[in-house]
Amino acid sequence: MNLQEAQALDAAHLFQNYKRAPLLVTGGRGCTLFGEGGRTWLDFVSGIGVNALGHGDDRVVSILREAAGSVLHTSNLYHHPYAAPAAERLKRLSGLDRVFFANSGTEVVEAAIKLARARAKKRGEGERVEVLAFEGSFHGRTLGALSATSTEKYRAPFEPLVPGFRFLPFNDEGAIASAVGPRTAAVILECVQGEGGLASARPTFTRAVREACDRTGAAMIADEIQCGLGRTGRPFAYQKHGVLPDLVPVAKPLGLGLPLGALLAREPWAAAFAPGDHGTTFGGNPLACRLAIEFLDRLLGGLAEVVGETGAYFHTRLEALAASTPGVLEVRGEGLMLGLALAFDAGPVVDRALEEGFLVNRTAGTVLRFLPPFVVGRGEIDRLVEFLAAAIPACTPTEVAGTLSRA
Ligand SMILES: Cc1ncc(COP(=O)(O)O)c(C=O)c1O
Repeated sequence: MNLQEAQALDAAHLFQNYKRAPLLVTGGRGCTLFGEGGRTWLDFVSGIGVNALGHGDDRVVSILREAAGSVLHTSNLYHHPYAAPAAERLKRLSGLDRVFFANSGTEVVEAAIKLARARAKKRGEGERVEVLAFEGSFHGRTLGALSATSTEKYRAPFEPLVPGFRFLPFNDEGAIASAVGPRTAAVILECVQGEGGLASARPTFTRAVREACDRTGAAMIADEIQCGLGRTGRPFAYQKHGVLPDLVPVAKPLGLGLPLGALLAREPWAAAFAPGDHGTTFGGNPLACRLAIEFLDRLLGGLAEVVGETGAYFHTRLEALAASTPGVLEVRGEGLMLGLALAFDAGPVVDRALEEGFLVNRTAGTVLRFLPPFVVGRGEIDRLVEFLAAAIPACTPTEVAGTLSRA
C-alpha cells in the first residue's frame, strides 16, 4: 500500500474525524520512523507521548515474541500474573496505595471522577458532587472527561455535558481557596498542561490545591497522563511540587504502545469502589501489563533521570534558539515535554518539518510541542534544533516579522 492508496481507503471507509498528515508509516527503529521510498523521519512526537522507548526496542520485541504464544486476554473475572506486579511498581514510583487498570487516559480520568463522587455518596455527603478544573485543561473526550476539558470547540457539539463542572483560572492561588468548599468532590489539574500550550503549574498553586482539598475533604486529582511516568524527568510531575495527590490517572507510555491506563489512588479513595461499582473488559490485560512491567522497571532503573539530563540539554539548546530567533516568544515545559511558543501559527513549521524529515506537532495553535522518546540522543536533538533555526524564520509571516523587528 502506498500513501495515495492509504488516503483513498481512509476517505472511503473511516470516520473523517482526524486530519492525518500525509505520511504512511511503514516501520521504525529507535527515534526514527520509516516511510515509503526509504524516507525517514526523526520522531519528536512519539505517538503523542507514548513510545517512550522508541521503536523496535530489543527487550520489548522479545517480551512480545514470548507473550504471543500465551494468553493475551483473561478479562477481570480471573487472576493473571502481570497486573498486580505492574501495580506494585506504580505504587513504588508514586507513593500511592492502589491501582485500577483501564485502556486509555480518558477512561482513568472518568474513573477518577466517578470515584470522587462515589466516595462522597458512601460517606453520606450527597451534596458533594462538584468538580473543579482549570482553564487550558485537557482531560479527555468521553462525556465526563470532556466536562473537565476547557476547550470550547471540543465541548460545544456535545452540550449539555455532565452537570457540576466549573473552571477556574490556572495558576491563580487566590481563586482556589474561595472556590473549593463542602460541595467540591474533586479538583483536577495537570502539573504541565499538555494540550493547553505546555504551561507549568507553579508549586505554590499545586500546594494551594492540596491545602484546599485537605481543608474541605475534596479529592485532589493530578492528571499525569501526558506529564507523568518519567516525561518531565521525574517519575511523576507532582513530585517536583512536594505534594501527594489523592488520585493520579496515567496512561500514554504505560503500555509502550499497547492501550493501557491506570488510576492510582490513596487507600481511602480506592476503598470507595466496591465489587461491581466500576469495571472494564480489557483493562489491565496480560499483554499490556507485561509491557508495563518492562517500562516501569526501566523507570525504576533510572530512565527518568536520563530524561531529566537529556531534557536539560534540549532546554538549553531551545533557549539559545529562542534568544536568536525573533519569531520565538519563549521555551515552555519540563524534561522531554518541551515547547516553543511562537508569535504566529505553528502549523507551517509542522508541515515543513514533515517535508524535511522531522515529526513535531502543534498545541494551542501557536506552540510547537516536542515529546520525543525518552531514549532520544543529543545528536538527534541537535539536528532538530538546526532545522528549527532555519524553518522558524522562513515560516514567520511577513506582517509578524515586521512587528518583531520594530519591537
Ligand atoms: C493530560 C491528558 N489527559 C487525558 C488525555 C486523554 O487520554 P487518551 O487520549 O489516552 O484517552 C490526554 C491525551 O492527550 C492528556 O494529555
